[in-house]
Amino acid sequence: MLPWASLLVLALISGKFATTPKPVISLNPPWIPAIEGETVLLTCNGFDLHSPRRITWYHGNTNWTTTENTLKVHTAGEYRCQIQDSASSYPVHLQFSSAPLTLQAPVSVFQDDSVVLKCRAKENVVLNSLKIYKNTKILTVLNNSPEFHIHQASLKDNGEYFCKGDKESNKFVSSNSVKIEVEELFPLPVLTARPSQPTEGTLVTLTCEVQLPPQRLDIQLQFRFFRGRQALGSGWSHSPEFRIFNMRQTGSYSCNAKAVTLNRWKQSHEVQIRVQSEC
Ligand SMILES: *[C@@H]1O[C@H](CO)[C@@H](O)[C@H](O)[C@H]1NC(C)=O
Repeated sequence: MLPWASLLVLALISGKFATTPKPVISLNPPWIPAIEGETVLLTCNGFDLHSPRRITWYHGNTNWTTTENTLKVHTAGEYRCQIQDSASSYPVHLQFSSAPLTLQAPVSVFQDDSVVLKCRAKENVVLNSLKIYKNTKILTVLNNSPEFHIHQASLKDNGEYFCKGDKESNKFVSSNSVKIEVEELFPLPVLTARPSQPTEGTLVTLTCEVQLPPQRLDIQLQFRFFRGRQALGSGWSHSPEFRIFNMRQTGSYSCNAKAVTLNRWKQSHEVQIRVQSEC
């Protein structure tokens, strides 16, 4: 039984490596569109931490290879990166606004994020009473600060935002509009059992799989496992695997996955595991 068990573990490990995630480009400052004349620092965040690293950057039709995972840019276009021989990242479409008034927003917004929108007037443009609109209704008047904060973003914050300022009597300036779509932090976890039809008294490995969004692979997760309503083991653990060395009980098994810092958790569907008696 032992060699077989270690084979299983090996299979699981190689399964993990087979799905090496794409790198993700982050922006600093993290808002789009950027403002003409300013510089944006792109960082290619990957998961292959072996050095020396070879990073390939793509901008439009050009590409170049370096050891730097950051890139300072001030021209518009589509940017992608690649670490060693990884798949290339999702593209980032960068625009530099030269409009009198620009509303800036983060590239993506997830549930519970604390979000900042910035309504920025061009240097020589003087505007009074800047207002933020959501779906054509006034949301707020900005006082002394170009920033509007959304605390703990949720689906109710979805919508089209723009800002507007008064120039002089009866004249006003409107910004671009920005569509906010709050994304779920993670979908329901999925429980799998290996083997799915175990023989009585053998090893069963339960795995609680969670598909995190690529921008959020840094989220720390914890897991716990259940037979019916009874918790297995000693509660939350950092391992997405739970081993039952001496499987005895047919029943409904499920798992929970929790985003540690956000204290938000989700429950998988139940999986019926039928234990075959030894012949
Ligand atoms: C990268 O650039 C070279 C020319 O410098 C070109 O031949 C090659 O096709 C480019 N690769 C990709 C993937 O765009």
